[in-house]
Amino acid sequence: MDGKKKDQTKKVAVIPGDGIGKEVIPEAVKVIEASTVPVDLTYFDWGADRYLADKTTVPTDGFATLSREFDAILVGAFGDPRVPSNIHAKEILLGMRFKMDLYANVRPVRLLDASLCPLKGVEPKDLDFVVIRENTEGVYVDSGGIFKQGTTDEVAVQEDINTRKGVERVIRFAFEYCSHNKKADGTARKRLLMCDKSNAMTYAGGLWQRVFKEVGAAYPQIKCEHMYVGALCTQMVRDPRQFDVIVTNNMFGDIITDLAAGLQGGLGMAASGNIHPGKTSMFEPVHGSAPPLAGKNVANPMGAILTSAMMLAHLGFADAAGKIEAAVLEAVRQKKTTQDVGGSLGTNEVGDWVVQHLRKA
Ligand code: NAD
Ligand code: IPM
Ligand code: MN
Repeated sequence: MDGKKKDQTKKVAVIPGDGIGKEVIPEAVKVIEASTVPVDLTYFDWGADRYLADKTTVPTDGFATLSREFDAILVGAFGDPRVPSNIHAKEILLGMRFKMDLYANVRPVRLLDASLCPLKGVEPKDLDFVVIRENTEGVYVDSGGIFKQGTTDEVAVQEDINTRKGVERVIRFAFEYCSHNKKADGTARKRLLMCDKSNAMTYAGGLWQRVFKEVGAAYPQIKCEHMYVGALCTQMVRDPRQFDVIVTNNMFGDIITDLAAGLQGGLGMAASGNIHPGKTSMFEPVHGSAPPLAGKNVANPMGAILTSAMMLAHLGFADAAGKIEAAVLEAVRQKKTTQDVGGSLGTNEVGDWVVQHLRKA
């Protein structure tokens, strides 16, 4: 039976996970609650503590339950030095992306204040692009193996899987995203750049090139662009103003969004959504569990708070999402932030400030 509520109330599964995930998610939850949207939260204890206690990574039927019972999932981060293999992180995080088929990882890159960007002369209007990362294929598929392990003849194979269906649907998603989303200043998104390494990885790159051209033909209003991933990295730090929407494969998407997070003020500022239109989607900050920061009340909760805004917008609460984004923007302008972005507040105090600001507004 579908356990999702039929009224306006949305059911959200909350999985704080490990490390700073357990500190930033409570701040995001405070903010959701202060928004007074009809959202019903259910907590899940998936993560390193649970794994170390009873060896469970994902309980039987865990993903099916999430899909059946919930409208969205809010996740912190996974990764704990007590689990050197990181097996729980792989099974939970990549499990959700792969088994729930959340094929489009949407990672907005937006500068909220010039002081946060390490580049000279870059203003908020100059940095407002979105990376759409293929999220279910590529080298993340875990296809390959090790041969003659531990010998001098050892061979490690990690295959890069690109299917016609997978490439086509994420590229189509990106064209649709471009067609239906605006920049923060209200102007239309007009350009989609496909990023690959087709000069060296000719089979996979060739498929991406052909599909991009074919799908793009149906979107004459969107300008199609292309860059090799190396050139894109250079351009991103030389002149990030030129980017609008970028679509790329799983691994390049991972790397370029860490670089892009650096331009936004660091990993603590970056939000993301793992989307399959029409299915239960998952929202998480881009950062990891940052073990050295855990338990110190120093982690920046803005990435998690902006992630909760993305989730609320996805659930149909665009107004509440806009107010949260405005409150975060104001906090950044007034330096009511953690130290990594120039403030002097703790994780908790930043969440409290955003909540107070929302209440006043
Ligand atoms: P990380 O994102 O945890 O940390 C990288 C750097 O960014 C560190 O210097 C950290 O202090 C800083 N940072 C990250 N988030 C921050 C925040 N909110 N506020 C202030 N500073 C912040 O990445 P890592 O160190 O490469 O990985 C640590 C663990 O997290 C590993 O186990 C890794 O596999 C895992 N990880 C998980 C996810 C996820 O669950 N989505 C993402 C990335 C890494
Ligand atoms: C991310 C993370 C993950 C990824 C890791 C933890 C497997 O870096 O969400 O960006 O590479 O996708
Ligand atoms: Mn990453």
